Amino acid sequence: MKELHSYWAYLVLAILIFAVVNAIIGFTQKKQFTDKDLRIGLFTLIVSHIQLLIGLGWYFMSPWYKALKTNGNEVMGDKATRLLAIEHPIMMILAIIFITIGWSMHKKKKDGTAKFKTFAIFYGLALVLILARIPWNNWL
Ligand code: HEM
Ligand code: HEM
Repeated sequence: MKELHSYWAYLVLAILIFAVVNAIIGFTQKKQFTDKDLRIGLFTLIVSHIQLLIGLGWYFMSPWYKALKTNGNEVMGDKATRLLAIEHPIMMILAIIFITIGWSMHKKKKDGTAKFKTFAIFYGLALVLILARIPWNNWL
């Protein structure tokens, strides 16, 4: 489960970066919003929802959650465990909420430029949150 989460993260980051760049280009160059752009947005949503599921699955089996339950104060006082037990999960859930809101809102927009803008803002924000709270030291 932990390995799966770790490898799936490459996919999440790659597709999310691609989607953000695609949205910024589409917005700034006022491109047509095509089926391809829709699929990029949807694929990003699905891949990140699957990561959410895997992340939650591992979280409740992980030593970090156990430590938090039995020894909360110590976990909060230690930077490394606090990152894994609290900061990373909360920030990632927030990021995925932004992605989901972005997906939802783009559907309500009529013109392509507005759709690209919605994706650029919400997916972009999610990317920043994710990059900020990935446990880089444990990864790569
Ligand atoms: C903990 C697990 C999950 C939660 C809490 C969750 C939550 C949500 C929410 C709130 C939406 C609504 C978006 C809207 O307003 O349109 C949504 C949409 C969606 N989710 Fe998830 N999801 C989860 C897991 C998954 C998984 C595992 C998949 C794929 C295998 C998935 C695929 C999708 C798709 C495709 C949509 C978009 C439907 C559409 O608008 O066309 N989700 N999810
Ligand atoms: C966009 C979503 C997410 C991304 C890109 C992501 C990415 C990562 C990465 C790269 C690692 C380091 C893996 C390693 O040690 O090799 C990690 C670890 C971890 N993630 Fe996530 N994650 C996401 C969402 C979540 C969620 C929603 C949860 C739980 C609610 C979660 C829980 C964890 C935990 C507990 C670890 C520590 C693994 C360990 O060392 O035991 N993640 N994540």
